Amino acid sequence: LTDTFTLSNGVTIPKIGFGTWQIPDGSETYDSVRTALDAGYRHIDTARAYGNEASVSRAVRDSGVPREEIFITTKCPAEVKDAEGARHAFDRSTALLDLGAIDLYLIHAPWPWNAIGSDHRAGNIEVWKVFEELYEQGRTRAIGVSNFEVADLESLIDATDVVPHANQIRWFVGNTQPETTAYSKEHDILVEGYSPLATGRLLDNADIKEIADKYGKSVAQVSIRYLLQKDILPLPKSTTPERIRENADVDFELSAEDVAALDALDAGE
Ligand code: A2P
Repeated sequence: LTDTFTLSNGVTIPKIGFGTWQIPDGSETYDSVRTALDAGYRHIDTARAYGNEASVSRAVRDSGVPREEIFITTKCPAEVKDAEGARHAFDRSTALLDLGAIDLYLIHAPWPWNAIGSDHRAGNIEVWKVFEELYEQGRTRAIGVSNFEVADLESLIDATDVVPHANQIRWFVGNTQPETTAYSKEHDILVEGYSPLATGRLLDNADIKEIADKYGKSVAQVSIRYLLQKDILPLPKSTTPERIRENADVDFELSAEDVAALDALDAGE
């Protein structure tokens, strides 16, 4: 849990992040994040849109873990596609988290959630220029995007100065986004995988279970380990203490044959 990836700007990021998507604000987020930090997680992924930044903040503060040992990611809402909105969203997240500089700030998606796939290239460029300012001012230590595909990345990179440090995408066995992943890696953009268990749908996959049994590990652990062996940063989410701990206990090595077998799995995506 203290192993790190290094972003293209030299900032290190703990290899497993605790995902907080769909964890309600208040005691559920607070308790889960406290459990995660007690279990040794040092990387918490939240977003303005999750509505739980204040609870993440309280958990971090109460944990007693020094702030500088914890990596915090938050995100600018997908609907924000203008400079003023981006500045406002950043200030709001910074105030709610109240933990000093953000470690990684992401554009949540290239399009608003109610218009997936719509063209907001100009808006993303406008927002990104604000991100570059915030980065230069040291208010965030790294900047990136989420849910960006190749065309979204290309148009942003062509028109701006700082290449995103990370791209957080939906990534799990059977949904490995090969084009986006390859493009990101070519540009030294760290790929982070959200929903590494396909929001739970992988858990009863018999093929993964067969592999897991060989290692005496769970389906969740094999699914998470698979990302790490592909140099993708997994962001597993759970509100169950045993599972939070289980998901971080992935210090084993899948054989090349088993990785190839997982590569070939079709998870029905
Ligand atoms: P819960 O939060 O009730 O523990 P993903 O990370 O792909 O979004 O998947 C999250 C889902 O998978 C949640 O429903 C979570 O349930 C469940 N989950 C997370 N870790 C485990 C695990 N180790 N074993 C079984 N279910 C898990």
